[in-house]
Amino acid sequence: MNITSKIDRRAPLFVAIILCLHITVAAQQSIPLITNVPGRNTISLNGSWQVIIDPYETGYYDYRFQPRGDGYFKNTQPQSPSDLIEYDFDSSQQLQVPGDWNSQDQRLLFYEGTLWYKKSFDYQRKDRKRLFVYFGAANYVADVYLNGEKLGRHEGGFTPFNFEITSLVKDKDNFLVVKVDNKRRRDAVPTLNTDWWNYGGLTREVALVEVPSTFVEDYVLQLRKGSLDEIQGFVKLNGATAGESIAVEIPEAKIKHAVTTDSKGYAQVSFPAKLQLWTPENPKLYEVVISTPDNSLSDRIGFRSIDTRGADIVLNGKPIFLRGISIHEESPLRGGRAFSEEDARMLLSWAKELGCNFVRLAHYPHNENMVRLADEMGVMVWAEIPVYWTILWDNQDTLKNAQNQLGELITRDRNRASVILWSVANETPVSEPRNVFLKTLIDSARALDQTRLLTAANERHYADQTTQVIDDPVGRYLDVLGCNEYVGWYDGLPEKADGLTWKVTLNKPLIISEFGADALFGKHGGKAQRWTEEYQKDVYEHQIAMLKRIPSLRGMSPWILTDFRSPRRPLPGIQDFFNRKGLISSRGERKQAFFVLQKFYKELMTEGK
Ligand code: GCU
Repeated sequence: MNITSKIDRRAPLFVAIILCLHITVAAQQSIPLITNVPGRNTISLNGSWQVIIDPYETGYYDYRFQPRGDGYFKNTQPQSPSDLIEYDFDSSQQLQVPGDWNSQDQRLLFYEGTLWYKKSFDYQRKDRKRLFVYFGAANYVADVYLNGEKLGRHEGGFTPFNFEITSLVKDKDNFLVVKVDNKRRRDAVPTLNTDWWNYGGLTREVALVEVPSTFVEDYVLQLRKGSLDEIQGFVKLNGATAGESIAVEIPEAKIKHAVTTDSKGYAQVSFPAKLQLWTPENPKLYEVVISTPDNSLSDRIGFRSIDTRGADIVLNGKPIFLRGISIHEESPLRGGRAFSEEDARMLLSWAKELGCNFVRLAHYPHNENMVRLADEMGVMVWAEIPVYWTILWDNQDTLKNAQNQLGELITRDRNRASVILWSVANETPVSEPRNVFLKTLIDSARALDQTRLLTAANERHYADQTTQVIDDPVGRYLDVLGCNEYVGWYDGLPEKADGLTWKVTLNKPLIISEFGADALFGKHGGKAQRWTEEYQKDVYEHQIAMLKRIPSLRGMSPWILTDFRSPRRPLPGIQDFFNRKGLISSRGERKQAFFVLQKFYKELMTEGK
C-alpha cells in the first residue's frame, strides 16, 4: 500500500476553472447536481403516479391566466361537502414512472402540453442526514413541489436535476407534485422542429437520495490529459469547511491517496497509477472508493486516454477507427422512451452484433444506464446536446439553456471511460451568430472537461458537381469533425456516391456521423425502388465504397440502428410516423443493409481497425 499526498502544481488553474463553471451549472439549478446517484443510498419513487392531464394549465393559472396560489400543487382535498375542489389526484388515472406519457395512453400519443404528476410517500427523518429528491430527466419543463411548497423549476428534457428537501420533508404523508410541460418553443433547446417524437413526462427514475450532512457531491477521477499513468481530478464535498480529509482508494491497485479540502470544499487530486487501461476489447473498470471520516462512496471507473494526432483519433496512444451506429433513446420493442438497463443492454447488444465499437447517442443526452453499460460492454460513446437544426442563436437565454444542458451532461458522465466525444450541435446552419453560439459551448465544455474530444455533426457543400467540401468555420475549434450526408437518399441516387470526391480543409479526424436511407422491413423490389430493403442495401454499398476513399475518415455512425417514431413522417403504409432508416425494424427485424454494414465492420476488425 503506498500513500502519496504530493500536490500537483498544474492543478490550481484546472480546479479554478472547474470551480467557476461548477458555479455556473449550480446557479442554473437551485442547488448543485449530485453525481453517481446509482452509488448512493436511495429510496426509489418509481412506479405508479397519479396524473392529471391539463392542456389549459388550469392547475397553474386562473381564468385571467395569472399564476394561482391554490394550484394543483397544493393537492387540496375537500374538507366539507360544500367545498369546491375541481381536481382530485387520488381518484385520477395513473401512469408509470419512469416512462413517457405518449406510449402509455393512446389518447396521449400526440399530446404536447402540461400533465401533473403526484406521488405520496412517508420518510423516517434521521439526525445528521440530508435528503434530496432526484430526477433522471423530465421532458421538457418541470415545476416541482413538495407538500405544496415550490422546490424549483428545471428546463431541458434529457439531463438530471435534484432539489434538497431536508427541511420540508415530514415523516408521514408527503406529497411530491411535478408539473411537466413538453410544449415546444421557438427559443427552447431543441427548438420547434425535430425529427424525433416529443415524448413527454417523467421519462427517467425519480428517487430520494439520503446523504450525511457533509457529503461527496461531485468528483472527477480520470487520467490527466496526455498521460497513461497519472490520475488527476478533484473531489467536491457539500457542507464542508476547509481542512476536511478525504481518501481516494483503488483497492485492486493497492492505491490510497489522501487529500484535504479548501475553503470551498474542493480537494485537488493527482497521483501516479499504473493501471490496466480501458479499451473496447478489454473494458476494465476499477472500483474506486472516495471516503470522508463519516461516509464513503464508490464507483466503477475505467481509465483510458483519448486524443487526436493529426487526422488520427488515438486511444491509449494507439490510432483507432470508430465502427459506429447512431441510436435514438427509444425502446424499439416496447415503444416509447428507453430508460432501463434492459433497454440499454438490448440496444448496445444489437450495436455489438453489427460489429460496433462505437455509438452516437443522438441527439440529446441518453440515460445514465446507457453510458454505464457502454463502460461495461466496451462501447465508445459520442454524447450530444439537442442544439439541433435552427436554434435561436442570438437569444441569451437559449444559450444559457444550452450551456446548462451541456454542464449537466458533462457533470453526470465525465467519469465514464466509454464517453470519448462531446458534441455541441447537429446540422446547424453556418452564420456568425451560430458560430459564436457554438464556440461558447465548446469553451464551456473544455472548461468542464479537458480530457475528452469536442465535435459537432456539421454539414458539407458542393464546390462543383462532384466535389464535396467540409470546411465548416466551427471546425477549427473542434478536435474531431463530424459530417452528416445523405448521398443516395436526399441527395441523388445511390450510385451518385461513386463519382464524388471529398475535400476536407482541416487536418483533423473525420467522422461521417450520418448517412442512410429509409426502408420498410419486408418491402422488396428493384434496388432503384425507394422504401425497399434493396434500395437501402444499395445505398450502404455505394456509401461504404465512397467513404473508404476519404483519407481522413476515422469513424462513422450511420443513421440509424432502429426505426424510430417521428411526427415528420406520415407516409401511410410505409412510414406511419416512423423514420424507417433503421437497420433494424421497430419489431427487431434485421434489414438487408444490416448485414452489409456488419460485413464491412468484420473486414475492418480483421484489418485490426
Ligand atoms: C438528419 C437529422 C436526423 C434525421 C435524419 C433523417 O440528418 O440529423 O435527426 O432523422 O436526417 O432525415 O432521417
